[in-house]
Amino acid sequence: MSALLPLLFGLFGLLLLLLRSRKRRDGEPPLINGWIPFIGKALHFGKDAHKFLEEYKKKYGDVFTVHIAGKYMTFIMDPHLYPSIIRQGRQLDFHEFTGKVAPLTFGYKPVQSDLWEKIRRSFQLLQGDNLQPLTGSMMSNLILVFRQDHLDHGLWRSSSMYDFCSSVMFEATFLTIYGRPAAALRHSDMEALREDFNKFDNMFPLLIAQVPIWLLGQTSAIRKKLIHYFLPERLSRFSNTSEFIKTRVGLFEQESSMKDVDKGAHHFAMLWASVGNTLPATFWAMYFLVSHPEALQTVRREILDVLRDDGVEFSTDSDVKLSKEQLDKLIYLESSINESLRLSSASTNIRVVQEDFSLRLDASRAISVRKGDIIALYPQSMHLDPEIYEDPQTFQFDRFVQDGAEKTDFYKDGQKLRYYLMPFGSGSSMCPGRYFAVNEIKQFLSLLLLYFELELEEGQPRPALDPSRAGLGILLPSTDIRFRYRLRANEA
Ligand code: HEM
Repeated sequence: MSALLPLLFGLFGLLLLLLRSRKRRDGEPPLINGWIPFIGKALHFGKDAHKFLEEYKKKYGDVFTVHIAGKYMTFIMDPHLYPSIIRQGRQLDFHEFTGKVAPLTFGYKPVQSDLWEKIRRSFQLLQGDNLQPLTGSMMSNLILVFRQDHLDHGLWRSSSMYDFCSSVMFEATFLTIYGRPAAALRHSDMEALREDFNKFDNMFPLLIAQVPIWLLGQTSAIRKKLIHYFLPERLSRFSNTSEFIKTRVGLFEQESSMKDVDKGAHHFAMLWASVGNTLPATFWAMYFLVSHPEALQTVRREILDVLRDDGVEFSTDSDVKLSKEQLDKLIYLESSINESLRLSSASTNIRVVQEDFSLRLDASRAISVRKGDIIALYPQSMHLDPEIYEDPQTFQFDRFVQDGAEKTDFYKDGQKLRYYLMPFGSGSSMCPGRYFAVNEIKQFLSLLLLYFELELEEGQPRPALDPSRAGLGILLPSTDIRFRYRLRANEA
């Protein structure tokens, strides 16, 4: 009994510690603890993050702290305050968060800062002049995939739209970034890889929330299989590999202590980065155009005009190639893609506080923040703000076009916004693949609109956004959509 007493006191003390919630200090934003120890408001937030944040904004104003799964997250809701967070350098860090979460999710050892710097430098190979060869290669691969599966006859075919988009974009993006595997690649091999990828992707939100992988059924075995696909000796036999991946292979080769499975896991992580958001983004862009025939006609006309200006008469009998310069001229297509990103993106921009300090938000306001807390921006609230975007739930394909050029002035409270569209994050953590992503979606849609007649099947309402990955990127549709397509007859 006497030995039990200290144990009981110990357990009681631990319980008290867990139950004791944090108290708000002077100068700190309003604090919402939730009544469940550790979990805090995580369940409420996970159910519908946008609604949750809007409710608290009404109650507590533009800045408040919420206890979510053991972390204290301070949300900055007024987009006029975003620049003060995005430009803040030393005391707010992005990579502390990804540096911890990504290794657990994708299964590699945490990376030392000098290698991390080299990896970050390699992201340049997705941008600037390097975009030219990537765009050319993506165009050829898209045509290859369309030719092998869809361009063979002129009869109507029925398909599920999400499945159609992801099958084409997964294969074409894979071939562009990683190249062609040594063994003759069959479409069925790519579909098997995509199936495993989807199984992993379904568990992605739980892995990011740091649920141990051994609690997630087959996920560990599937991840092992996916990593195995990218082991160095396999990857070395791929042909037409992009400079981006070749450089990463070279970087990892120089790391003598790095194991092959860690190298494979890094390559697999890049596969997730390159298609995880692109597939749903492509779906929404296609869905909104097909469900708005007048927008589809304008965009199709624009593509034909750009080709014609360069002396190309389009015919369904031949392969069409759009260069990067031609893609840059497609402003209505770009606006349609931006509009669908606005309606489907729900990422959180996260910064970890490096020391207790007073964070200045604007000329008149500062808040006290504590080391280890998270400062979060949630741009979906801005994307759906009726003061910035009139009738925010409606798809307006030309919302981002003004006087024949890209529209960049959007206002709130009569003041022009510096940031108004943020599907790719912001500042130091902004997506390095954003130019490639928008280009490849433009290429996919151009081919689709040029070659096919497209129709939704009857009686299908607009799919809702599936909230399960709110905070992590582009949301998937909660249901797939049936549509019909057939090869166009050549116009006289
Ligand atoms: C529509 C498609 C895409 C969307 C919406 C998207 C969005 C994002 C977002 C929101 C982030 C995190 C930014 C942050 O936390 O602040 C990110 C990071 C990243 N993305 Fe993308 N992305 C897309 C496509 C791509 C593609 C095609 C690639 C590569 C080919 C890519 C490579 C990356 C990488 C490597 C990172 C991590 C950067 C870092 O850790 O510094 N993304 N992306």
